[in-house]
Amino acid sequence: MYTAKVMDHFQNPRNVGIIPEANGVGTVGDPDCGDFVRIYIHVRADRLKEVSFEICGCPASIATASILTEMATGKSLRDAVAIKEEDVVKALSGLPESKVHCSNIGVAALRQAIVDYLQKHKKKKESPQQA
Ligand code: FES
Repeated sequence: MYTAKVMDHFQNPRNVGIIPEANGVGTVGDPDCGDFVRIYIHVRADRLKEVSFEICGCPASIATASILTEMATGKSLRDAVAIKEEDVVKALSGLPESKVHCSNIGVAALRQAIVDYLQKHKKKKESPQQA
């Protein structure tokens, strides 16, 4: 049912956990009562230096979040935000039709993390310098 790539990322997920110096975080779903994914990003010079995730979900959602962190790491903010659900499914060599929606939560959480970073970054620029 799952491709070898999905099984690999499900059984050996990459980039799991919190990035202590993350400057952007995006969560999709509800950590208290259901499936969720939380993406952490560490951005420097407009580039995603590190990307990690925490998740509660099915094997397909774990595999999509795992491969998404690999796809996004090293990309510019502009290129990372342009990653589409179809790109993730393609990188996994496909997902069963009933599981394609699972790729949405990772991509949506990554976009939220980027928006979170941009909002914090903007606020930082606007606030006066601390002595
Ligand atoms: S995340 Fe709910 S079925 Fe995959």
